[in-house]
Amino acid sequence: MTKKLGIGIIGAGYISCAHSIAFNSVAAIMQPNLDVNFAACCSPFPEELAEFKDRFNFDAGYEDWRDLVNDPAVDLVIIGSPPNLHFEQAKLALEKGKHLLAEKPVAFNADECKVLYELAKANNLHNAVGFTYMANPGMFLARELIAEKKLGEIYSFNGHFLVDDFAYPDKPWHWSCDEKIGGYGTTDDLGYHIVGKLVTLFGLPSRTVGCRQTKVAQRKDSEGNIRPVTSDDMASAILEYENGISGIIQVSRTATGRDQFIHLEVNGSKGSFILDMESMNEISIFLREEDKRLEGFRRVMIGPEHKNYSRFCPAAGHGLGFNDFIIIQNGHFLGEIAGTSEGTPEGTPEGRGGETYKAIADLEMAWKVQKVIDAIATSSDTEKWVDLAQN
Ligand SMILES: NC(=O)c1ccc[n+]([C@@H]2O[C@H](COP(=O)([O-])OP(=O)(O)OC[C@H]3O[C@@H](n4cnc5c(N)ncnc54)[C@H](O)[C@@H]3O)[C@@H](O)[C@H]2O)c1
Repeated sequence: MTKKLGIGIIGAGYISCAHSIAFNSVAAIMQPNLDVNFAACCSPFPEELAEFKDRFNFDAGYEDWRDLVNDPAVDLVIIGSPPNLHFEQAKLALEKGKHLLAEKPVAFNADECKVLYELAKANNLHNAVGFTYMANPGMFLARELIAEKKLGEIYSFNGHFLVDDFAYPDKPWHWSCDEKIGGYGTTDDLGYHIVGKLVTLFGLPSRTVGCRQTKVAQRKDSEGNIRPVTSDDMASAILEYENGISGIIQVSRTATGRDQFIHLEVNGSKGSFILDMESMNEISIFLREEDKRLEGFRRVMIGPEHKNYSRFCPAAGHGLGFNDFIIIQNGHFLGEIAGTSEGTPEGTPEGRGGETYKAIADLEMAWKVQKVIDAIATSSDTEKWVDLAQN
């Protein structure tokens, strides 16, 4: 019997729970030989650590993340801690020869992302980054529509990630309000997802102009102390490509009434699509018709015809959710580590468009995305367009 891959998860909060749930189901849903051993978990808070260790039945629990990285039973380190810790944790994991699945943002700037990317490459280690929504079967279809030129020449896009969890001034201060812990704010937290999709579909833009704002400048913490909000609450940007594609993105956590409006629209000379995560089990597609009377956006329900869906359910319209996307993402990543066919969406190195692509995002993608995020922030500071370094 081959040894199961030992996983070690740093952090015991929202996304660490989602990863643990996903790793519990990966073998059943994606492929039986991808089962893992829950080797170790980590939280600096003893109560949280004990509860998390028990809930997911980890072999070991550590209060110091370095002990988890150094544990010989851990082959793959998953980072679900606050962003200010990611770079140091990822770097040590890669230096110690561990595969890496890091949550976004993996670092606070593109130079740090490049260090991690090069370290993983030099040490021949598998790596993935939690872009999550990239694993939506609708996103695989969007990639195919573009690769197969079904939309013709691509003209433009608009992308939004709007939520309202910080819309109300009485929402308590949280670590993400501090740029020293959370990074830029919505620009990297939410922007990572939208920019990630654009970089996946079209590559790196050539220039951008952006604007970041903080709407609620201070909040009370859980002890009633007033603390400044140093990260941004909203940001918008124009992105332009060498080949003429251009568009806008907007991210906000103060978009009153919006729960999870992750919306991407792409327009081409022959058609368009809309992916909207508030209706995550459908994709709206417009294709030009000879008979103009029949033209219009049609709603395509995600079902067994679309990548990975039938692993969950044989019938269309039953719907996948956020945690299922993480099962798909982590399953493909484990497949890549194991060298099985799960490493690619079709079980071959090529998508239907004939284009070779990875099913999941990695450190190289995070480096590119971070270049765009950094450029938006620089543009906001300087009030000027910023050119993006292409390598
Ligand atoms: N991909 C996605 O869709 C997605 C969704 C949510 C969060 N995230 C990302 O995941 C990361 C964590 O976010 P969250 O919402 O889970 O936060 P959270 O506050 O719920 O959890 C953070 C965890 O890190 C632990 N932690 C704090 N300091 C630590 C230390 N020194 N060592 C080890 N653990 C420590 C905390 O105890 C907590 O368990 C963020 O970077 C966030 O952007 C990604």
